[in-house]
Amino acid sequence: MEEDKINAQVIAVFPNKVKIVVDNLEDFKVAEESLRVGSYLKIEDNENALLIAVIENFQIVVGQEGKRDYIIEAFPLGILRDGKFERGGDALAIPPKEVKPATIEEIKKIYQDSVSLNESFCFAKLSSNKNVAVPINGNKFFNKHIAIVGSTGSGKSHTLTTIIQKAISEKSGSFSLNNSHVILFDIHSEYKSAFPEANFINTSNLVLPYWLLNSEELEEFFLDTEANDHNQRYIFKECVVEDRKSRFTGSAAEKNNIHYDSPLYFDINSVLQSAISKNTETIDTGEVYASGAKKGEAKTVQGSLYGKLTNFVNRLENKVNDSRLDFLLGERVKTITFEDTLKTLLGYNQDKPSNITVIDLSGVPFEVLSITVSLISRLIFEYGYFYKRLRASRNPDEQVNNDIPILLVYEEAHKYVPNSELMKYRSSKKSIERIAKEGRKYGVTLLLASQRPSEISETIFSQCNNFIAMRLTNPVDQGYVKKLLPDTLGSLVDQMTSFKQGEALIVGESIILPSIIQIDRCEKQPSSNDIPYWELWKEEWKQLDFDQLKIEWQK
Ligand SMILES: Nc1ncnc2c1ncn2[C@@H]1O[C@H](COP(=O)(O)OP(=O)(O)OP(=O)(O)O)[C@@H](O)[C@H]1O
Ligand SMILES: [Mg+2]
Repeated sequence: MEEDKINAQVIAVFPNKVKIVVDNLEDFKVAEESLRVGSYLKIEDNENALLIAVIENFQIVVGQEGKRDYIIEAFPLGILRDGKFERGGDALAIPPKEVKPATIEEIKKIYQDSVSLNESFCFAKLSSNKNVAVPINGNKFFNKHIAIVGSTGSGKSHTLTTIIQKAISEKSGSFSLNNSHVILFDIHSEYKSAFPEANFINTSNLVLPYWLLNSEELEEFFLDTEANDHNQRYIFKECVVEDRKSRFTGSAAEKNNIHYDSPLYFDINSVLQSAISKNTETIDTGEVYASGAKKGEAKTVQGSLYGKLTNFVNRLENKVNDSRLDFLLGERVKTITFEDTLKTLLGYNQDKPSNITVIDLSGVPFEVLSITVSLISRLIFEYGYFYKRLRASRNPDEQVNNDIPILLVYEEAHKYVPNSELMKYRSSKKSIERIAKEGRKYGVTLLLASQRPSEISETIFSQCNNFIAMRLTNPVDQGYVKKLLPDTLGSLVDQMTSFKQGEALIVGESIILPSIIQIDRCEKQPSSNDIPYWELWKEEWKQLDFDQLKIEWQK
């Protein structure tokens, strides 16, 4: 009978699973290509559609006469019809006609044909076959927010380094500098070695004027917001606005428009002096003491805020005198202009423009980390917003909102945008959440890397469209990531626990099918913080220079 000749048959089709029974595995295999979990199968129907599925498991069934059958379960990735690939497996006409292993050449072609040369961006190979490059659509990838998650040591820092190195080096013409723009927040001083040519900023050359903080950030920085003290808030606001106005040299109408959020210079020392004088104010009553020790002296009463601003004054004095905060409050912030601040952050330095700006935050005191990240992120977002406005006003028909789009990269993102309502995270969370929600329209994209995805704000994660999930061992994080990924991924997601270093599941609009990939090694590596404990401990006792240590500590 005709059917007896068929070596492999589809015996069940589910939306997320295809079952196949194979008589003879040797005849089924493609010559020279091994068949294993992760290999691809193609299943044809009578309408010229080809379902591509990836093998999830094998079973051997021994029949009554000792005959062995092989049951293969595979996960349907999508349908190839007239050379075009559609995701999902439900469009296959039943019953399927034929099943065969897909050849490497066929898989290569699916990936290659999935994206035009112009849009193709490639930083990885297929994990099950390193000869298959996996290109993604670079426009779609950078246009939507990107999340890289994985346990410590899974390869996140290397992955984002590979991505950025490739992104800033590709050119569509013969010029020395391309138009890529990346700003990376480096919390552990890891990236100088990976990007030696970067516009490198740390607390010694960072100038981030306090007067660019918006009202909310100003209050968080200078006031004790938990105390909810109306006096200090009122006085502070009044002094800031007044000081700004007093220094303004433009027209009266413009001056009238100056408000608490205007990005204009004011002198924090003047604000402090005003607060001190209000806190110690006495008012002359016009009367004179008639007798006693003060006879002849003017009678005074305490001002309405006398003694009520002591905490505020102390807090402000502490801030102004804290040399660790020089990058926000020191001498340089008085002279730097708004444009120069923006130029430095965007890598538009006159002598050496740069595609990537690495902002080393390791020297930023923890209590101002959130404010620092918030201010920089907000400035970048507002750059996108105002640049779009400028472009639209120059040309009402403009189709591209921003021809200088930016990628903002946050390492250890759970530190700036945690799933927590705590005050100390409020400002950075707010700024970054705003970019997550609105950044796409203005050409500002986020790349967030984190080893604790379950601790990241859900608002932010739910806006990510490109996921690179590396080895993830913590069950809470795994569960969280699974929830965020499309539920059609089947067992691909479960493999996350056993990924090797640099291996990842990539999912999103930018890739033709969800794929398990091996990220290419980066050219120059980020500096690993691993300390060779064992070797160091075996060396001779080392002297520690306590005097120098003290000087460093107290700088
Ligand atoms: N694509 C890759 N191929 C092979 N090895 C890799 C790859 N990416 C990273 N590794 C190796 O994995 C190790 C850890 O990488 P990496 O520092 O990027 O991890 P991480 O996820 O950022 O960790 P942490 O969360 O602690 O910062 C490094 O020693 C690196 O050499
Ligand atoms: Mg890392």
